[in-house]
Amino acid sequence: MMLRRKTASESAMSTLAVYPGTFDPITRGHVDVVSRAAAIFDHVVLAVAASERKDPAFSLEERVALANDVLAPIDNVSVVEFSGLLVDFVRSQGAHVVIRGLRAIGDFEYEVQLANLNRRMAPDVETVFIAASQEYAFLSSSMVREISSHGGDVSDFVDPPVADALARVYGPPRR
Ligand code: COA
Repeated sequence: MMLRRKTASESAMSTLAVYPGTFDPITRGHVDVVSRAAAIFDHVVLAVAASERKDPAFSLEERVALANDVLAPIDNVSVVEFSGLLVDFVRSQGAHVVIRGLRAIGDFEYEVQLANLNRRMAPDVETVFIAASQEYAFLSSSMVREISSHGGDVSDFVDPPVADALARVYGPPRR
């Protein structure tokens, strides 16, 4: 019997990737990373961690609802909450890929530690890093909350539903 190599399209598998975080709240930096991931993978699950230890400003339900609102235009992204170990959640979804965004060199050490820990617990789960756009390299959810809590305008950093949610918590921007 003649053996034949598979063509590239025959080898292509449907690939599901999980992009985890606390998303307290989701920022344009996160949207940048998830959009890039959605252009590479067949489907991306944005996994909103309960992260009780971080004592989030927005409830888990609010964080999921905001992410759903903001990501509605991207067809192949869904939003799911999780608690417990990330690798258990990834397996429960039938996924083998975790996406993490790298904003600056400062992210590297923590991210490699997390990736190695996760690999130790689940060797079948691979972490893929996506370089975040320079435009958002300085952004974090706590910075956005800080600016909003001091009456600053966050409309450059978050999408309108998130800006509205921040205004409900901290009051409308004063400058
Ligand atoms: N744009 C904007 N901000 C970004 C960003 C980006 N591209 N990438 C990261 N950030 C920000 C986040 O908003 C967050 O900001 P904040 O701390 O000011 O709120 C900060 O950078 C850290 O982000 P991240 O590293 O994603 O932390 P996280 O708390 O959001 O999520 C988990 C970390 C949920 C992935 C991790 O804790 C986890 O896997 N938890 C489950 C338990 C587990 O399995 N632990 C691992 C084994 S020890």
